[in-house]
Amino acid sequence: MGDQIQPPADQLAAVSLGNDASTVQKEPFSDRVRIQSILGRPDGGAGLAGQKVRIFGWVKTGREQGKGTFAFLEVNDGSCPANLQVMVDASVYDLPKLVATGTCVTVDGLLKMPPEGKGTKQKIELSVEEVIHVGLVDPATYPIPKTKLTLEKLRETLHLRPRTNTIQSVARIRHALSYATHTFFNDGGFLYIQTPIITTSDCEGAGEMFQVTTLINHSERVEKDLINNPPPTEADIEAARLIVKERGEAVAQLKAAKASKQEIAASVAELTTAKASLANVEERSKLKPGLPKKEDGTIDYAHDFFGREAFLTVSGQLQVETYACSLSSVYTFGPTFRAENSHTSRHLAEFWMVEPELAGADLEDDMNCAEAYVKYMCKYLLEKRYDDMEFMAKNYDKGCIDRLKLVASTPFGRVTYTKAIELLEEAVAKGKTFENSVEWGIDLASEHERYLTEVVFQKPLIVYNYPKGIKAFYMRLNDDGKTVAAMDVLVPKVGELIGGSQREERIDVILERMEEIGLPTEPYEWYLDLRRFGTAKHAGFGLGLERMVLFATGIDNIRDVIPFPRYPGKADL
Ligand code: 4AD
Ligand code: MG
Repeated sequence: MGDQIQPPADQLAAVSLGNDASTVQKEPFSDRVRIQSILGRPDGGAGLAGQKVRIFGWVKTGREQGKGTFAFLEVNDGSCPANLQVMVDASVYDLPKLVATGTCVTVDGLLKMPPEGKGTKQKIELSVEEVIHVGLVDPATYPIPKTKLTLEKLRETLHLRPRTNTIQSVARIRHALSYATHTFFNDGGFLYIQTPIITTSDCEGAGEMFQVTTLINHSERVEKDLINNPPPTEADIEAARLIVKERGEAVAQLKAAKASKQEIAASVAELTTAKASLANVEERSKLKPGLPKKEDGTIDYAHDFFGREAFLTVSGQLQVETYACSLSSVYTFGPTFRAENSHTSRHLAEFWMVEPELAGADLEDDMNCAEAYVKYMCKYLLEKRYDDMEFMAKNYDKGCIDRLKLVASTPFGRVTYTKAIELLEEAVAKGKTFENSVEWGIDLASEHERYLTEVVFQKPLIVYNYPKGIKAFYMRLNDDGKTVAAMDVLVPKVGELIGGSQREERIDVILERMEEIGLPTEPYEWYLDLRRFGTAKHAGFGLGLERMVLFATGIDNIRDVIPFPRYPGKADL
C-alpha cells in the first residue's frame, strides 16, 4: 500500500502515503481519512491544504469561541497521538452539542492552513462544511473527564480507559512490538506454532497454575437438582425393578403363547421403557452433593471435563519443543497464566509471552538471538512509533527514547551468575544494602537484578550459568555439575525481561535430574521421548511482552500496559 517514507531521525513516524504526496489517502474500508495520514506527514499535513476530506474521531477537547459563533475541536481517531484541529461554524451545527470531551464526530470539510501568527502549532486544520454524525456525551456523567485521572484510578474504568492518550499510546506500542516480533522471527525463518492454552503439563514446575475444571459448576447443579428433586430411595429402586421384572415376564408369556408379532412388539417396547426408567432411577440414586471423590477421599477427576486434571498454561515451551525437534526454528506467542499471589508492579496473573525455540542452538546462540530480538524491537519502535515514544518521553520517562537508542546500538553485557554474585558482594562490601542477602546459590531478587543492570552495567545485561538448584528440570547441566546453561536478560527499569536456557537433550542426564528433584517421569514421558528418538541440541527463551512495554515506555506499573489486567482480586470485563 504505497511506499514507506522514512522520517528524518527524531521526527514523526513514517506514514503510508499514496504515490502522489499531494493527495489524501482514504481508508481502505471506509470513506474517512485517517488523521495520522494527514498529521504524520513530514510536512505536518501542510501539503494537503485545499483537499476535501471526511474525518471521524472523538473530541479530546472542544471550546466555543467568538461569543459562540464558532468552535474549535481537537479530534483524535486513535491513529496517532496528535489531534486534528477542527473548526466548526455555528451556522453549520449546534455547537454546544459538539464540544464535550468524548463526543464522537464524523465531519466533512476542507483542509486549510491555519491563519498565520497566534503562535499556532498546527500546520493544517479542518474547516467543517457538514456534520455527518454526532455521538453525544453528557459531560456530567462521562467517567473520563478532561482533567487527568491517575493510571490507578483509570483501572476502575477498563472499558473507557482506551479513550485516554496514555492507554492509546500503549495500545499502539503493544501492537508495534507484537508486529515486530512476528516480522523478526518470520524473517529469521521461524515458524509460528500455536501451543495449547489448556494443558496437563506443568512447565515451570512452580505450582502456580490455574486449574481448568467443570466439576465445581457441575456439582453445584447437582446439589440444586437434589434439593428440588430428591434422589430415589431404596424402595423407589425396588419398585422400578419390580416393574422391569413384570414387563419381562409379560413378554415371556406372550412369546410362549405364540401371540401376534404386534402384541409381542408392544410388550417389548413397554419392557424397554421400564428398563430405561430403572437405569435412570439407579443413576440418580448415586448422585451425591459435593465433588466426586475417590475411595481415598481425594477428588475423582475421572468425572471432570477432560477426565483428568487440567490447567491454564504457564508457558508454551515444552509443547513448542516438540515442533522445534521436527521443524527446527519455531516460536510461540500467546497468553500465559500464573496464579502467584503477587502484588508487584512487574507481575500479572495473565500475560503474553514470546517463546522461540531454536534447534541446533546452544546457550550462546540463544543469547545472541535474544539480544538481536530485543534490539530489533527497540529499533522498530524508534522507526515506526516515534510519535508515541515522544508522548512517553514527555509524560512518563524523559529518558525512554535515549534508552531505546542505547539498547539498539550497544552490545549487552554478559556475565556468569557466579561473577554477578561477586559483583553484588563487592557492592555490599562497599556499603550497598539489599533487603535480600547475597550469597552463591540464591535466586537473584529484583533489587539485585536492577542494581546489576542499572548501576553496575548501565545497560542490558545477560546473566548465565545459574545454580541448578534454582532452575527448572529441563535446563542443560553444565560440566561443573553445579550449574545449568540458563540465561536471564536483565534490563534497566524492569529487571528480568527474558528467561531462557539450553535444553537438556541427554536422556540419562535429564532422568537423573528429575529423580534428584523428585519429579515423576510419567507425566513427562512424551517430553522424554524427544530425547529418546533423534535427540537434538536445542535452546530457547521466553520474553514477557508486558515487561518489554514497561521497558520501552517507562510506565511504572505492568497493570497499565495490558488492555485487561488480571491480578489477585481483579478480573474486570
Ligand atoms: O522466566 P520464565 O518463567 O521462563 C519461562 O517460562 C520459560 N519456559 C521460557 C522459555 O524458555 N521458553 O518467564 C519468561 C518471562 C520472564 O522473563 C518475564 O519477562 C515474563 O516471562 N514473566 C512475567 N510477566 C508478567 N507477569 C508475570 N507473572 C511473569 N512471569 C514471567
Ligand atoms: Mg525467569
